[in-house]
Amino acid sequence: MKVLVCGGAGYIGSHMVRHLLAQKHEVVVFDNLSTGHRESIGEAALIEGDLSDAKALQALFAVHRVDAVMHFCALSLVGVSVKEPYLYYQNNVAGTLNLLQAMRRANVDKLVFSSTAAVFGNPEYELIDEDHPTRPINPYGASKLMVERILADAALAYGLRSVALRYFNAAGADTFGDIGESHEPETHLIPNVLRAALGKGGQLRVFGDDYPTRDGTCVRDYVHVNDLATAHLRAVEFMSTHDGAHVFNLGNGQGFTVLEVIAAAQRTVGTQIAFERAPRRPGDPPVLVASSKRAREQLGWSPAFTDIERIIETAYRWHCLPRY
Ligand code: UFG
Repeated sequence: MKVLVCGGAGYIGSHMVRHLLAQKHEVVVFDNLSTGHRESIGEAALIEGDLSDAKALQALFAVHRVDAVMHFCALSLVGVSVKEPYLYYQNNVAGTLNLLQAMRRANVDKLVFSSTAAVFGNPEYELIDEDHPTRPINPYGASKLMVERILADAALAYGLRSVALRYFNAAGADTFGDIGESHEPETHLIPNVLRAALGKGGQLRVFGDDYPTRDGTCVRDYVHVNDLATAHLRAVEFMSTHDGAHVFNLGNGQGFTVLEVIAAAQRTVGTQIAFERAPRRPGDPPVLVASSKRAREQLGWSPAFTDIERIIETAYRWHCLPRY
């Protein structure tokens, strides 16, 4: 199969590219390299470009006859999205529309879309399934939900087949240790904990210790990037027998508090990791844990990395590279 991976040089996209290549699929990457890394895509073909460039997208589909598209390109910082909503809607919604229109012109009818737990907003019950109300509390989550809506409309109007995968907290790195999570500035917990452990970051801060959780810090469901990659491939297989627009939640179904993540990292790294307690970070829901029952049942997906220490260990190997 030939797959176009938009955003294939980024954190999750590059793990996807590696997985596809390992399964002997042909891969074309479209990426503007704004946050991604050229060296992360192995032998996949790279077309450097931006989703705002409708002509470049059309040209791409004219040259490459692809069987499916996986769409990872997005701005994804919740805090920035609140301050710069136009930027987020322009990039995440308008950019995706350009991609969808180019796909339609080229008669490409299968898309896997990176969605997010941020579509749910503040959880109304604990194990979040796909039927949980979607009331995003920031433009980032709203932009992803708008695309989900567009995909549902496109299924009816144009017969587009799609699967939107709502990731909970993507974490970890490939076990080879040569690709991983690298954002500047880094806002995510596990990279910040590991940078602190290695003395490569600033002071580690724990945002909020007065949440209604077992130790007062936020609970999240960490799912390994390679498990996200396997779900995408399952999603493409699913679309060969299912039309319409589908959504699936992807997580391990088990939540860990911020302090539990730090404790697990201490066990992995073998040293104490100093942190300070800081005020709550605006927009953080107290608990986000997925029910991935639907993905297990309908996609036949189950995560291979279910142990938080193992997930952190894979990330640690990547963070130990001298590159940092
Ligand atoms: N945290 C800290 N210190 C840090 C970084 C994070 O205490 O240095 C805390 C956060 O406050 C939060 C938890 O660790 O309670 C996890 O934070 P992350 O930034 O790692 O992840 P988020 O849960 O905020 O983000 C994830 C996805 C987003 C998605 C969001 C939905 O990465 O794409 O869930 O709420 F939008």
